[in-house]
Amino acid sequence: MCGIVGYVGKSEAMPIVLEALSRLEYRGYDSAGVAINNGRGIQVSRRVGKLKVLAEALRRKPLKGATGIGHTRWATHGEPTEFNAHPHSDCSGKLVLVHNGIIENYAELKERLINAGHRFRSKTDTEVVAHLVEEYAKRHPIEQAFRLALKDLRGSYALCLLSQDAPGKIFGARNGSPLLIGLGKGESLFGSDATAIMERTRKVLYLNDLEVVELTQQGAKVTTLSGKAVTRKPTTVNWNIASARKGGYPHYMLKEIHEQPDAVRQTIVGRLTADPLRLVFDKRTARFLKTLDPRTRFVILGCGTAYHAGLVGEYMLEEFAKLPVVVDLASEFRYRGPMLDKHTTVLAITQSGETADTLAGIRMAKAQGAKVLAICNVMGSSIAREADAVLYTHAGPEIAVASTKAYTCQVTTLALLTLFLAKARRGISPAQWRKLAEGLLQLPETLEKTLQQEAHIKTIAAKYMRVRDFYYLGRRYNYPSALEGALKLKEICPLIHAEGYAAGEMKHGPISLIRRGWPVMFVATDSPVYEKVLSNLEEVRARKGSCIVVASEGDQQARRHADHLITVPKTDEFLSPIVAAIPLQLFAYYMADANGCDIDQPPNLAKSVTVE
Ligand code: AGP
Repeated sequence: MCGIVGYVGKSEAMPIVLEALSRLEYRGYDSAGVAINNGRGIQVSRRVGKLKVLAEALRRKPLKGATGIGHTRWATHGEPTEFNAHPHSDCSGKLVLVHNGIIENYAELKERLINAGHRFRSKTDTEVVAHLVEEYAKRHPIEQAFRLALKDLRGSYALCLLSQDAPGKIFGARNGSPLLIGLGKGESLFGSDATAIMERTRKVLYLNDLEVVELTQQGAKVTTLSGKAVTRKPTTVNWNIASARKGGYPHYMLKEIHEQPDAVRQTIVGRLTADPLRLVFDKRTARFLKTLDPRTRFVILGCGTAYHAGLVGEYMLEEFAKLPVVVDLASEFRYRGPMLDKHTTVLAITQSGETADTLAGIRMAKAQGAKVLAICNVMGSSIAREADAVLYTHAGPEIAVASTKAYTCQVTTLALLTLFLAKARRGISPAQWRKLAEGLLQLPETLEKTLQQEAHIKTIAAKYMRVRDFYYLGRRYNYPSALEGALKLKEICPLIHAEGYAAGEMKHGPISLIRRGWPVMFVATDSPVYEKVLSNLEEVRARKGSCIVVASEGDQQARRHADHLITVPKTDEFLSPIVAAIPLQLFAYYMADANGCDIDQPPNLAKSVTVE
């Protein structure tokens, strides 16, 4: 998730673009850049690091001109370096653009353009678009060349393009990544969200997918990709800056819960395609996985939520890739003196890539000759740099301390890894592989549907807001869901002591606490052990416990046994922890909200635990 801005008007563009970028830094901040068209040429300035590094460079060497674009980056393809920072240009430097999203077919387009003589400077998918426009502009006017290039793209994009030959104009387009227009007095702007333009105007035109814009200081000409004119009334944004950054949600956590369908889509896109049904990883990771010792065993490391994701991965990899797996808390692993060797593969799961215990764990593993694969959300982070290969989750920046979209993207990445290894190790039949892959491709829509339960979950939370204890129970793939659900609740609503258990553990002690009204959250979605979970539910009900049940749509048995029922769409069991995470996140959120807790920055917690 990056931030892009554009300005065209009567004022100097550079300070306005920088100000707009500063309001988008929460969307990405590993590098930044601006490009200004002064009518005689396009000047570009880019820097690695936070926006202030670029601002300092521009203070020393300002760029002059009344038309400009800017970008603050969250790296997805290509490390955070100056070469990979946006804006990117074509061979001539006369076409310069910024981009947010993932161009799924950039590799094949890049090969075609290199064969046509184009010279690339970066490793990004974005640069391909600049050269593609340049190629079409050899035979078409720029407006049409831009449109033709867009038609070749597969994947998600929000784009702003400058052409030296079209001063006073910015071309824009969106598909799957947000882009809006600000209409000011004698000036017009582009922004990834309203925060970027609110300093200049509150009159906003929201763009839909596959729409194309020509922006001038007089206003915006919006058309469909096929060139049909689009007329749309502007709206007035009344948010303050803080709520605009949250997309109008009251908390980053709720915004990030709702971002999950798109975040999971970004995790899948560019890797698993529907037609043809194919799974590809980046060359380095694919090579790493294909050269694994056939006798290897996986040791999965993580902390907190990442550890819970690892527990789900254990079920997946053992069941479908027929791989021996153990999962370890990184804080224990590093002091346990584990037996590792060159046949061991350590899989480190981490959102931040900076968690001290996990970093120490992989360093120890490498010292003992083990290979390290990371699942990480932050390019250029310590763990991402020190691992032998990395699968990025592409969740975008996760601002709330309580992890939500990073978790579901971690489990989605584990599902992709499982499919890759299941095929390489012939762990399952092609028909079974196809079924699991198709379920994964459906996941974003499944999550969208699950989010529709929000209001119902909010009303349930209101009934339980005064409780001070909570059990979470699940089995198999949803035993980790129970742990994760309990962590979410106690993390953001520290008034409540919540504990997650394997449901089969009840008789081994936990059931002793069950008495009238004791609240228990069951994750009882379709599974080979569903009947076992149901009997645990009956044990709690027999002791007058109060049961909230997350069950699969159409489950009549659960309806009869639950005090409150939350239904989720049916999925393969191996994807059910991703789907079940949403109601558990929403329940924790509304319990904390009802209790007036500090949701985005809970007391005593840090987003990234970089110390022991
Ligand atoms: C989860 O909501 C917490 N923020 C915490 O448990 C987190 O998952 C843990 O600290 C690991 O962080 P990492 O994924 O950045 O390594």
